[in-house]
Amino acid sequence: MKVDVLLGLQWGDEGKGKIVDVLAPRYDVVARFQGGPNAGHTLEFDGIKHVLHQIPSGIFRPKTKNIIGNGVVLDPIIFKSEIEKLSQFNLEVKSNLFISKKATLIVPTHRLLDQAYESAKGDNKIGSTLKGIGPSYQDKIGRQGLRVGDILSPNFIEKFKKLTHIHTEILDKYDITYNWSELEKSFFDAVSFLKEFNLVDSEYFINREIKNGSSILAEGAQGSLLDIDFGSYPFVTSSNTVTAGACTGLGVAPRHIGEVYGIFKAYSTRVGSGPFPTELLNEDGERLRKAGNEFGSTTGRPRRCGWIDLPSLKYSIMINGVSQLLMMKADVLNIFPEIKICTHYQLSNGKTSEEMPYELVNEKIIPVYTTLKGWETSLTNISENQMPIELTQYISFLENELSVPITLISTGPDRKQTIHR
Ligand code: GDP
Ligand code: IMO
Ligand code: MG
Repeated sequence: MKVDVLLGLQWGDEGKGKIVDVLAPRYDVVARFQGGPNAGHTLEFDGIKHVLHQIPSGIFRPKTKNIIGNGVVLDPIIFKSEIEKLSQFNLEVKSNLFISKKATLIVPTHRLLDQAYESAKGDNKIGSTLKGIGPSYQDKIGRQGLRVGDILSPNFIEKFKKLTHIHTEILDKYDITYNWSELEKSFFDAVSFLKEFNLVDSEYFINREIKNGSSILAEGAQGSLLDIDFGSYPFVTSSNTVTAGACTGLGVAPRHIGEVYGIFKAYSTRVGSGPFPTELLNEDGERLRKAGNEFGSTTGRPRRCGWIDLPSLKYSIMINGVSQLLMMKADVLNIFPEIKICTHYQLSNGKTSEEMPYELVNEKIIPVYTTLKGWETSLTNISENQMPIELTQYISFLENELSVPITLISTGPDRKQTIHR
């Protein structure tokens, strides 16, 4: 069978965790293909909210195997604490979780370097989650990184010391204080813990599953507008968050890709710095933040909020080859008598455009809006045929503009608050 891909079309936090959990019973395998503990994927059911960072969001479904792919950067310390948090829920984590030996390791100095580089940037800071993502991907690309498979090597300690020595020499030039022996101890404790898990050649694993006819869902992290190549560079993350990233991050050939589920909020949010054309720095922005509880799942930072942005969504749909759209958090718009949709950008040269300009950071973009009437009613527990007419009109407008069907509407954080169309 084909590998379906689910990924965010905006700046992350679209609701990927919820939907992977909702769709997981249809899949034999769920596989994370990039990112690391910068991600915070929230799942909610039976009145409990879970936030996963590195563990795939299929973990609560007992029949689903979960893979952490080679494209992921894995922090063993955070991995250990995530697994410990899950221990109270009687999951078969040890038998249901498989970790690629080729996944890159985040070592404690990566986090320190992240801090050092960010503070040196001053006002131009990226707004990183400071989990060591950029520095660990730098080492991977610079061909000096450590990988999960290395922890099985007899000279792992030596390799670790060699890499962290390079890092501490850099850190000496910055004003960063740390307790090295403590960091080292918690790292090696976590590495021993990690050794107890299934460390696999995940590219063989996944291709065997494909050959055997298993259904596979690739779970993206972050969002397309944070992609290292196509996002609002340099205000991006350090991996390919787009569909192509699922191929390189799992070892899956492009011809094996099936459906591409593009997930988006009914409005827009962004956490961290960088351009955000439809950002609302007014009362409406505050109302979105409050109604949507828009605070980061990983860092708790308030998320910047704004109206939906069609030029950027069209861009993401194009880059990813999205075949189905999933619209999240429709309920957050319940309170608005009018809902705005950005259809074009007006650029500083006076021209309007439906495309994302190369220069996003220094260009002053003015969004051009169409206004639709809001539904101003609760969407809690409604079915598709109970949807208010204004919501149906909003969906039709988006489908018409984006030329891709919206096959799922989410009306609340719980698993059950989901309308399949
Ligand atoms: P992810 O990173 O894409 O998995 O998304 P996050 O978990 O970081 O952020 C999404 C937030 O919205 C979480 O707090 C979810 O519980 C919540 N959420 C998901 N879907 C809905 C929805 O349809 N309505 C509301 N109100 N909240 C939702
Ligand atoms: P999920 O998977 C939202 C943002 C950070 C920062 C930039 C770079 O939960 O959607 P990094 O830590 O990667 O160096 O940060 O990217 N960012 C996210 N924003 N959701 C995420 O993940 C994010 N992961 C990173 O805020 O602006
Ligand atoms: Mg998140």
